[in-house]
Amino acid sequence: MTTNLLVTFYSTYGHIHRMARAVVEGAESVSDTTVRLRRIPELEAARKALSAQDAYARAQQAQAETLEVTHDDLRWADGIAWGTPTRYGNMSAQMKQFIDTTGSLWLKGELEDKAAGIFTSTASIHGGQETTILTALVPLIHLGMVFVGTPYGQNPQLLVTDGIGGSP
Ligand SMILES: Cc1cc2nc3c(=O)[nH]c(=O)nc-3n(C[C@H](O)[C@H](O)[C@H](O)COP(=O)(O)O)c2cc1C
Repeated sequence: MTTNLLVTFYSTYGHIHRMARAVVEGAESVSDTTVRLRRIPELEAARKALSAQDAYARAQQAQAETLEVTHDDLRWADGIAWGTPTRYGNMSAQMKQFIDTTGSLWLKGELEDKAAGIFTSTASIHGGQETTILTALVPLIHLGMVFVGTPYGQNPQLLVTDGIGGSP
C-alpha cells in the first residue's frame, strides 16, 4: 500500500524551503511513499513589507513554481510534514493563517488520525525551536492529527547536536 506524504512549508528567506526539500528527499527514499511538496501562501501584508529586500525576492522566486497547498492536498495525505520558520518562538503567521482556513475539515474530522511532523529553524541557537514546535502542535491536535517526533533511537545524531540544533 502506498503512503501519501504532504510536505508543506512557509519560508520567507529560503531556509525552510531548503529543509522542506530535504524532507522530500528523505521521504522519497522510503519505498511505497508518494510525496507532494506544497508551499503555504504568502500574506499580502508580508509581501508589501518585505518585497524591497533582495534576499526575500530571491527566496520567493526560488519557490515560485511550487504549487500552493490546498485543502485537497490535506485530504489526500496520510501524513503531513509542516515547515515553518520561528517567529518570536512561534509558528509563522502564514502557517497559522492557513491552518485557520481548515474549519470545514475540522467539522467533518477530515484530518483526524493523520500523522503530523513539524520542522523549523531559528537564527539563534536557543531561539525557540522547541517552543515553535510545541505551540504549532496545539491546533494540529485540535484537528485530530497524531504527532510524530524524531526519536533518538532512529536519529542518534540528536545526541551530538554540537550547537547546530535538533530536537526530538
Ligand atoms: C519576524 C521574525 C521573527 C523571528 N523570530 C525569531 C526567534 O524568535 N528566534 C530566532 O532564533 N530566530 C527568529 N527569527 C529568525 C528566523 O526564524 C530564522 O532565520 C529562520 O531560519 C528563517 O527561515 P526562512 O529563511 O525559511 O524564512 C525571526 C525572523 C523574523 C523575520
